[in-house]
Amino acid sequence: MRLVILEDSERVAEWAARYIIKRINDFSPGPNKFFVLGLPTGGTPLGTYRKLVQYHKAGKISFKYVKTFNMDEYVGIPRDHDQSYHSFMWENFFKHIDIDPANAHVLDGNAPNLETECQQYEEKIKEAGGIELFMGGIGPDGHIAFNEPGSSLVSRTRVKTLNQETITANARFFGNDMSKVPKQALTVGVGTVMDAREVMVLVTGSHKAYALHMAIEEGVNHMWTVSAFQQHPRTIMLCDEDATLELK
Ligand code: F6R
Repeated sequence: MRLVILEDSERVAEWAARYIIKRINDFSPGPNKFFVLGLPTGGTPLGTYRKLVQYHKAGKISFKYVKTFNMDEYVGIPRDHDQSYHSFMWENFFKHIDIDPANAHVLDGNAPNLETECQQYEEKIKEAGGIELFMGGIGPDGHIAFNEPGSSLVSRTRVKTLNQETITANARFFGNDMSKVPKQALTVGVGTVMDAREVMVLVTGSHKAYALHMAIEEGVNHMWTVSAFQQHPRTIMLCDEDATLELK
């Protein structure tokens, strides 16, 4: 595992964006040869998406030969709801770049059969040749995607019932009305992310400091699902100084 510590979240965003650009450009994609990128939502990657858009507009990177797979999506809210991860990705990233919409995959939380949707997502990733670089973020409890504490470290894409803490924390995005907060989500599994050839986890802010300590300084533990990446051959933990406050 490679631990990269930078001064602040701005530098983390710059580093992550440049790294993604380098990996895509070095891959020299072309027709029928796509770079496959896994992506998260949330506050942490926003700066990275902004930088990627800037670099795209400056002509430094094209996403024409990139396929993306997002980590997760809520169940049961309309795709164009302002809190859906689909909307998040389009607003913050996809609509500003030259990706073919057919290549930007987000799980469908309104699919008639959610289990089939999850299985097909795994198949689509395989058909695309597997994920080359999976960028992720973690919660203060060490979750990655919606793999909350206690999730299996070999889990695959599946339907997850969200824990009460997550539901309560999300209420602020749904007008503080608990009845409107999704209670389930579709999420890639820890095993799905582990299959990526490279993983880059962004960790910023002192509220993630204990999670970073548990992720890299304690043993692999399914109560801190991000700790699984200690056993991944190519993982970068990309952090700001605030996130390192609990490191020994
Ligand atoms: C996002 C995701 C989550 C978030 C995590 C941190 O698709 O699956 O693992 O990365 O909840 O969220 P933020 O970045 O908002 O602190």
